[in-house]
Amino acid sequence: MKTYFIFACVVALTVAGVCQAGVLRKNFYSNSCPSAEAIVKNITQTLVASDPGLPADLLRMHFHDCFVRGCDGSVLITSTANNIAEKDSIPNLSLEGFDVIDEIKTELESKCAGKVSCADILALAARDAVSFQFQKPMWEVLTGRRDGKVSLASEVLANIPSPFFNFSTLLKGFQSKGLTVHDLVVLSGAHTIGHGNCILFSNRLYNFTGKGDQDPSLDPTYAAFLKTKCKSLSDTTTTVGMDPDSSTNFDASYYVNLKHKKGLFQSDAALLTNRISNKIVGELQKSTDFFKEFAQSMKRMGAIGVLTGNSGEIRKTCGVINS
Ligand code: HEM
Ligand SMILES: *[C@@H]1O[C@H](CO)[C@@H](O)[C@H](O)[C@H]1NC(C)=O
Ligand SMILES: *[C@@H]1O[C@H](CO)[C@@H](O)[C@H](O)[C@H]1NC(C)=O
Ligand SMILES: *[C@@H]1O[C@H](CO)[C@@H](O)[C@H](O)[C@H]1NC(C)=O
Ligand SMILES: *[C@@H]1O[C@H](CO)[C@@H](O)[C@H](O)[C@H]1NC(C)=O
Repeated sequence: MKTYFIFACVVALTVAGVCQAGVLRKNFYSNSCPSAEAIVKNITQTLVASDPGLPADLLRMHFHDCFVRGCDGSVLITSTANNIAEKDSIPNLSLEGFDVIDEIKTELESKCAGKVSCADILALAARDAVSFQFQKPMWEVLTGRRDGKVSLASEVLANIPSPFFNFSTLLKGFQSKGLTVHDLVVLSGAHTIGHGNCILFSNRLYNFTGKGDQDPSLDPTYAAFLKTKCKSLSDTTTTVGMDPDSSTNFDASYYVNLKHKKGLFQSDAALLTNRISNKIVGELQKSTDFFKEFAQSMKRMGAIGVLTGNSGEIRKTCGVINS
């Protein structure tokens, strides 16, 4: 096996100039589980049809998976008596959709047991959920990820960017994952769908610098609207659509709103504070341009720190590391 791999590498080196064990590829399951991708798509899109919030849930979950220990399904692990998993960390706020991944996994285990990783299921389901509205895949998902065996709540804060971050801390976080300023701006466009909790931005409405003031970088009309939703600094339960008027519609309006100072979080507004990222925001005002860039950045995000080959495992249940 080892000899074969080295031989394959030499061939690959000669042909493509690369030799990586850790590469994902198209249709990884075409032999081991030919209907895998169709099953993921079918279940995901059937559920999206009755839950328009699901695309946002799955897209964010995939992001949280990839930014902590790479896209290895670690976000899906349930805590045990001996381990507090990623799921139970502070930034998990409102992570949802675990039941969807479990349902898909159950079906895949019945069709081809032990073949399809939870990390791949999540990557595919996020893509299929967002794509439902378009009836065509919005980005390509390469497969062959394996599942990690470690999930620690204590690693989440240091890896998931905070909505209170400024431009330089955001960029540092993305660069530490091998992503660029361009990826940062493009992937932030995911906030065209979904909701945010008042407590994560109400300082911008009520007490920005501790003087009972408003964030001057937030459009006053938008701020007034947000105040009708988030009634005070102590509101810890209300959520607001991140993209006013179209929080289930995946489109470029995030960038149109952002340019008009209507980004919900400080981390959104921060993209206007750097010359380069500000310019990129300007270039993404049209959905066709945004979709093209998003497809490429998602491919890069989906490849962060992946386990392939014999690394990790194929979990039997997405919430539980195989014993
Ligand atoms: C740039 C740094 C980012 C920060 C600081 C950030 C922060 C946040 C926060 C605070 C929320 C709201 C959570 C809540 O109140 O429940 C949120 C929601 C969301 N984020 Fe991000 N995020 C970032 C990047 C991303 C990326 C790269 C993606 C995916 C590619 C993403 C996808 C989403 C989605 C889809 C939601 C809505 C979730 C839902 O409604 O279920 N975010 N984000
Ligand atoms: C999923 O599969 C079922 C049964 O094969 C089929 O009736 C249904 O139309 C499919 N749904 C989607 C969204 O593809
Ligand atoms: C998030 O973590 C808290 C504990 O910090 C836990 O009570 C809650 O159930 C977790 N949420 C999810 C979606 O797992
Ligand atoms: C950004 O935030 C970091 C960490 O809080 C801080 O050290 C840095 O000075 C801030 N940068 C700017 C430009 O405000
Ligand atoms: C606003 O912030 C200041 C300084 O942190 C604090 O003393 C004050 O209590 C805050 N106001 C409210 C309404 O929480």
